[in-house]
Amino acid sequence: MHDWIAILDFGSQYSQLIARRLRERQVYCELMRFDTTAETLRARGPKGIILSGGPASVLEAGSPDCDPALFDLGVPVLGICYGMQLTGKKLGGIVRKGESREYGMASVDIAGAAALFRSLPEQMPVWMSHGDQVEALPPGFRILAKTHTCPIAAMADESRRIYGLQFHPEVVHTPHGGEILEHFIFDVCGCAGDWKMSTFIEESTRSIRQRVGGGQVLLGLSGGVDSSVVAALLHKAIGPQLHCVFVDNGLLRYKEAEQVEDCFGRAFGIDLRIARSGPLFLEKLAGIADPERKRKVIGRTFIDVFADEARKIGPVKFLAQGTLYPDVIESVHPRGGPSATIKSHHNVGGLPPDLKFELIEPLRELFKDEVRTLGRELGLPDTIVDRQPFPGPGLGVRILGEVTAERVAILQQADLRVQEEVRQIQAYREIWQSFAVLLPVQTVGVMGDERTYENVVAVRAVSSMDGMTADWFRLPYETLDSIARRIINEVRGVNRVVFDISSKPPSTIEWE
Ligand code: XMP
Repeated sequence: MHDWIAILDFGSQYSQLIARRLRERQVYCELMRFDTTAETLRARGPKGIILSGGPASVLEAGSPDCDPALFDLGVPVLGICYGMQLTGKKLGGIVRKGESREYGMASVDIAGAAALFRSLPEQMPVWMSHGDQVEALPPGFRILAKTHTCPIAAMADESRRIYGLQFHPEVVHTPHGGEILEHFIFDVCGCAGDWKMSTFIEESTRSIRQRVGGGQVLLGLSGGVDSSVVAALLHKAIGPQLHCVFVDNGLLRYKEAEQVEDCFGRAFGIDLRIARSGPLFLEKLAGIADPERKRKVIGRTFIDVFADEARKIGPVKFLAQGTLYPDVIESVHPRGGPSATIKSHHNVGGLPPDLKFELIEPLRELFKDEVRTLGRELGLPDTIVDRQPFPGPGLGVRILGEVTAERVAILQQADLRVQEEVRQIQAYREIWQSFAVLLPVQTVGVMGDERTYENVVAVRAVSSMDGMTADWFRLPYETLDSIARRIINEVRGVNRVVFDISSKPPSTIEWE
């Protein structure tokens, strides 16, 4: 096992950022529950432990607590904000309730030399966000830094290698924060900083082979980034023991099924079974306009088709899934979390009882951008690696009202033009999703001398970090202009294009 740092998560919105900062520096780390025992940590042997910030107060009864024995493991500990207050309280210092919450930029003065602040200015801006503060040091500690309002802004017991920071080094508003974290992970903990994607590929293919042995693995390939990367990784690890099922529900983007077939079936030579079931889905969707009913019907039909394909493969022991790190983190989060809700859409849950599998989730330690890097290293094309998120029910939730073969064809053509035009703008990678929506509305137009009465297409483009909140993306006027012209001139059945400028909340990204 390579060097790694354990980050105990006390619920701060910045906890994931700490993990990002460390991984950017080629140090592997994992976010763990705040109450992970010292025993568990000892068994896994981290080079250091970081206690994250959190929204609670250590002075409140029932606030998240850590195992005090972790301070005796002989492993360096860095407490950040709540983590520092907890360190102070646990080791015999005094924590005082703040009169008001200090939130925003502050300037700290470094008080004397310390490994954490080596070669940094004596005074520097930092980001504060706390109510309580450590008022009296625990025995053996000294003050490393102070601000006007906070006499103990950083503290340490260097003989035991235990540190505390009242401010947040992981956010960009603390310009030297990255260096402070580097001093902790490299100088104090002695990490080598050699965690790379190639290391990840080697280690995970080895452990997948070991776990799978001679067994067979099933993967529901959707053509999205996550399942595609899982397919490429498993194929590298176990070759013909991997069997992919791709359900073409007829609600995909234009030529998407062909792209998946070309890439995975032809180029990679993966055992890819394509269930061409567009007509079945349309049949089941006939006459249904209610969004939730559509979702249910599509979900249920997907499971039926997937299960039928799976049975054809013969005995399969494992089911692979593209669960990512943020999903795992959210599911162990002290307050639960929203992104777990998104992911539940994707999971192949609800399989019939005769299909029982052990789960393989080879991406569960990675963030989305790391998954993309991994995909590139495994030889996946940009068209797949840079793909935007696409909802499981596909165009089914972008055709408002009843879904028919004719309306699917109109939307695919309109959507293709949105994609082609948007892909040309420089800021393409800043867009989270961009697509067309077919409205159940006809409007009047003129073409030549003729009066037309045809469909309206809405164009949606949003920026977002995780899909939970989103802002409408300011597409250039020229792009909007060519999208509208091309759709109206080239797609039969559409005579009007509108642009959606609502943000989420209160709107959602999809229209249904
Ligand atoms: P909303 O529309 O809720 O979408 O703002 C947030 C993100 O989730 C995707 N989405 C879905 N994904 N099944 C999925 O797999 C669904 O039923 C579904 N509904 C929305 C949406 O594309 C966006 O990325």
